[in-house]
Amino acid sequence: MAEVVFVDSEAAAGTLAAASIRSLILRKPDAVLGLATGSTPLSVYAALAASLAADPIDVSRVRGFALDEYVGLPAGHPESYRSVITRDAVVPLGLNPANIQVPSGDPATIRTAGLDYEAAILAAGGVDVQILGIGRTGHVGFNEPGSSFASLTRVKTLTEKTRADNARFFPSVDDVPIHCMTQGLGTILRARHLILLAFGPEKADAIAAAVEGPVSSSKPGSVIQLHPHVTVIVDEAAASKLDNLDYYRYAWAHKPWPGI
Ligand code: F6R
Repeated sequence: MAEVVFVDSEAAAGTLAAASIRSLILRKPDAVLGLATGSTPLSVYAALAASLAADPIDVSRVRGFALDEYVGLPAGHPESYRSVITRDAVVPLGLNPANIQVPSGDPATIRTAGLDYEAAILAAGGVDVQILGIGRTGHVGFNEPGSSFASLTRVKTLTEKTRADNARFFPSVDDVPIHCMTQGLGTILRARHLILLAFGPEKADAIAAAVEGPVSSSKPGSVIQLHPHVTVIVDEAAASKLDNLDYYRYAWAHKPWPGI
């Protein structure tokens, strides 16, 4: 069962996740981070950047793999996930850009880029901690409903709903690419620790389906139920459709060690 942790703010979620990542890097200076984009992980990157600024540790050997990338955006496009990861995580955390990989969104290579990305993750020894957001469709990464739990990095077609949600980053919805390269649900399952964050009422259905719903490829987030080490950090609004709230609170209050 996932550990479900309630927070009263995104900042508090960021502090919890950042503490876990910091202690991972102290234990393993060449830790491999799985990096999500979008709005959800921003508080994690901000809290980790603040912690590193206040009390620096060596992050020069930390490696990172982005979850996904749009297909077909020109190199250097400000909303390509290569640009977003650089802006939101690599620069503020002081990571070495040479250590950070993002799936290729070059249309010319989409049939092979997934295999190359999987090989790179394996060569790095796998992802130690994967940061995840969740979409309103229930996607993790860009694994839209119907994605196989065995899927690896490959090209996917974004739903109209996801494109509409992400239109806020583009001049119009028509500018949001239709295709992406995304780590598969099988790729995500191979990471050693998953930290899934969600905030706001619009994520409540997706969180309930992921944490407590039937395990089904129609609800891709439910893949977390197949993973042995998952932490779900949610605010009250995102948690509002969970059934076992009391038990999650009780378990957190009586956790035998501090932190996630
Ligand atoms: C991002 C990703 C997506 C987002 C999800 C939620 O790399 O793979 O699964 O995590 O779409 O997006 P936000 O956080 O913007 O609500």
